[in-house]
Amino acid sequence: MKAGFDHTEVIENIRARKDALGKELIILTHHYQRKEIVDLGDFVGDSFELSRKAASDSACRHIVFCGVHFMAESAAILAKPRQIVQIPNEHAGCWMASMADSVIVESAWNQISDVMGKERLVPVVYMNSDADLKAFCGTHGGTVCTSSNAQKAVRWAFEVGDKILFFPDQHLGRNVGHDLGLKADEMIVWSPDKPLGGNTPEAVRAAKMILWDGYCLVHTRFSVEQIEKMRSEFPGARIIVHPECTREVVAASDACGSTSYIVKYVQEAPAGSTIVIGTEINLINRLSLQYPEKKIMDLNNSLCPNMFKINLGNLLWILENLGDVNVVTVPDDIKADAKLALDRMLSLA
Ligand code: 13P
Ligand code: SF4
Repeated sequence: MKAGFDHTEVIENIRARKDALGKELIILTHHYQRKEIVDLGDFVGDSFELSRKAASDSACRHIVFCGVHFMAESAAILAKPRQIVQIPNEHAGCWMASMADSVIVESAWNQISDVMGKERLVPVVYMNSDADLKAFCGTHGGTVCTSSNAQKAVRWAFEVGDKILFFPDQHLGRNVGHDLGLKADEMIVWSPDKPLGGNTPEAVRAAKMILWDGYCLVHTRFSVEQIEKMRSEFPGARIIVHPECTREVVAASDACGSTSYIVKYVQEAPAGSTIVIGTEINLINRLSLQYPEKKIMDLNNSLCPNMFKINLGNLLWILENLGDVNVVTVPDDIKADAKLALDRMLSLA
């Protein structure tokens, strides 16, 4: 919120709209939202918890999703047919989600299939992706995953198949592959602008995981040097990072997990703990206000400008135009196939 700007009236109007709508409305907020948005929401969570909430809340008619577009789209896929999902700012996209689309993923799929033998290739798509990529996974026997269940999803994919195409976040894929015991050379990177993703046919045949060359600009800003600096300044500190960080950063940290894992870690740490966090700054700032008896610091100030596009003004505007503006819809054919892959993820959890 800008200093010196009085939002009291906007907040009162939002609360009045909420009171008038009662159970007809639910406001879902992601952990990276500004504090004032989370305070006005009915539920805060990581991307997995928000999708589960959208799938299970059947009482409401209106779901207002304060997060980025792919999250609202997943809520629209999982919601009941009578429910309407709206996002306060339709330009709240995700850079990583735009690093893959169905044309280039399909081309990768065909190129990989052409050089493979009889083995079965399974697609695993990160939640941070457009609906048509989730649909691709639905029709090709794959699943969606989030940062909190990616290990389960990859383990499942290795039970039903032999090789995984993981997209779009190479870092989450690599971190999970590492935790499941894969060696670095069993995971190759697929660069979509190069023939065979920049690999030889032998390398593609030998790989267990093929990782799309995508990444999050917010989480790849953290470095091992920053961790070393924090360790020397605060020797007793615990360092926890999100799995969208690079393998080197995760290896240098003390713990790694989804946004909800980070929240729980801070919650459960004893009073007096010093915790340095490598994730989006709005979550870290909220945690440090929430737990004044613990010293909570950011590894580096890194803000997601997409999450930040949701504010009090556009939240009120949505509530004043319920059902009419920024309605998030997915074409029926894509919806059915994407739901297959999302339901598979929910059943794995
Ligand atoms: P979570 O799955 O932890 O909510 O993360 C989503 C995200 O976009 C992180 O950048
Ligand atoms: Fe996308 Fe990164 Fe923002 Fe998450 S933090 S929504 S991955 S740009």
